[in-house]
Amino acid sequence: MKPKVYLTYPVSEEVEGFIAKHCEIQKWDGEGRVPEEVLLREIKEIDGLYTSGSTTGKIDERLLSHAPYLKVVSNVSVGYNNFDVEAMRKRNVIGTNTPHVLNETVADLAFALLLASARRIVELDKFVKAGNWKPTTVYSDTYGKDVHGAKLGIIGMGRIGEAIARRAKFGFEMDIIYHNRTRKPDAEKKYEAAYRDLPTLLTEADYIILMTPLTSETFQLIGEEEFKLMKQSAVFINVSRGQTVDEQALIRALENGEIYAAGLDVFEKEPIDADNPLLTLPNVVTVPHIGSATAKTEAKMAMRAAENLVSVLTGNQPRDPVWQ
Ligand code: DGY
Repeated sequence: MKPKVYLTYPVSEEVEGFIAKHCEIQKWDGEGRVPEEVLLREIKEIDGLYTSGSTTGKIDERLLSHAPYLKVVSNVSVGYNNFDVEAMRKRNVIGTNTPHVLNETVADLAFALLLASARRIVELDKFVKAGNWKPTTVYSDTYGKDVHGAKLGIIGMGRIGEAIARRAKFGFEMDIIYHNRTRKPDAEKKYEAAYRDLPTLLTEADYIILMTPLTSETFQLIGEEEFKLMKQSAVFINVSRGQTVDEQALIRALENGEIYAAGLDVFEKEPIDADNPLLTLPNVVTVPHIGSATAKTEAKMAMRAAENLVSVLTGNQPRDPVWQ
């Protein structure tokens, strides 16, 4: 008998075909996130769960207590903050993610947000389209900030952090400083990146990119105190998780002119509420958590997650266990 798996969102024919060779598939193909009552019903029977990470809630003891046969939860994302690692380990449920394949794509987005925030691309695009560009427009009203040659602070020098550093160093001749749990001698050498403690990095950097995973240590890592340390001309970019930042403190920092601008891929609540003040501030560029969202990269991630799922369920080592 084939193991049973549940897909929490639609996948390509290729991915589904690959999984179907080894597993019996149940899937959610309704609108939006799979409703909790459906998941709680389905999970009773299944051996493997395939999820984008955000299409189910937390994989915690409450959910796991309904899943007597579950052996693996395969995330189609590099982040795995939806895993309650302790609860999963206790029940011998393996968690997997999709590292490596999205590094360059997420780094591209971090840079897109940085450039857009620095040069006010979204604000000025609206300005032109609204017909406000007149012969009398004061040119200095359109000024932004230089990116080339500026000092970039990267918080979280993992694989994606390094891909950002490469762009910054060799594309924009930026000066790189970084903060990380451990020193990265390789990155220091390759990108002439200098290590800083967090307060020093925040004080020195012209641009700050937050790239750290969400853990209990990084929850609201950047809050009121941290924004106060930043230069008034600083641009803050978050491509990690919304909860690594105290969002109310970010709003206050932007409203009070404590920082120059922010570029945000992630938010405390996703989708963001329509009345969130971040959506009305002209110096904030927002995108809907699209770090890895290109057709090519998403296809690679979907297949890699399928391989991880099938590996566990056919008695093999998955390529990307998030713990050993
Ligand atoms: C991930 O894979 O965790 C990223 O958030 C993708 O955007």
